[in-house]
Amino acid sequence: MSGPSFPEAERFEAVVRDGRPARRFNFRHETSSTQDLAWTMAERGAPDGSVALAERQTAGRGRRGRAWDSPAGAGLWFSRVVRMAPPAPELGLVVAATALAVAEGVERASGVRALLRWPNDLLVGERKLAGLLADARDWDPRAPLLILGIGINLGQGEDDFPDDLRGVATSVAMERGGGKPVDPAAVLEAVLDALDERLAQAADASRHDALDEAYGARAALLGRNVTAFEGDREHEGVLESVSPREGVLLRKPDGTTVTLRPELARELRGV
Ligand code: BTN
Repeated sequence: MSGPSFPEAERFEAVVRDGRPARRFNFRHETSSTQDLAWTMAERGAPDGSVALAERQTAGRGRRGRAWDSPAGAGLWFSRVVRMAPPAPELGLVVAATALAVAEGVERASGVRALLRWPNDLLVGERKLAGLLADARDWDPRAPLLILGIGINLGQGEDDFPDDLRGVATSVAMERGGGKPVDPAAVLEAVLDALDERLAQAADASRHDALDEAYGARAALLGRNVTAFEGDREHEGVLESVSPREGVLLRKPDGTTVTLRPELARELRGV
């Protein structure tokens, strides 16, 4: 596999702990899913910001019950424990803040600019660079705890992806061409820093406008014909705007507009 070599666990540990003494870090060369590892850490009292990271996942999970391909040394596969002071914001806003932070961190560390396909895919062009999974179990706004699972493709070349992802997925290495390989620890650090900042923004209602605006400014598929899925219903139209607070605004072929509430708009696809 081309791309970056996987640095030693100590480098990751230094990144997670640097300046953040309360954080716990759990690195495994192999685990089923870092989501499970992070839940175990949370159940044992791990504080906000704690991170579970694996070189390889044997049963990586994606959204909607899909598997997440997580081979050794190809990407960053990690989960962050999130504890917020009650009352918590809408879960959707936390997820939007996370997607935005991942895109910003990746861009800062690698120069690769990904856009956000509602609600939380990171795309470069038409291809998926990274995804995130928010696992809130029984989300209780009075004791908000969730695990954010983040998968970022870093080192794969086209041939490293399984058949069903070829032409659909991309990696930082592919987007940077044959240039200098990206340092996974640097990407992890930039993403964790951006997450700290954007999650703090999500926790502060007076900063929600700025968060909403930043997400909207990075939205993918604007001006394109899309299909939006709302429960079992499908809507087609031109994507006019995307907002974690207001939802997804489409202009339909007859010229009228429809807004899908953020909690109901579950997926967008380019037509
Ligand atoms: C998606 O886009 O479908 C979400 C992908 C989330 C993948 C990450 S990798 C780290 C964490 N552990 C998992 O099992 N899944 C998430």
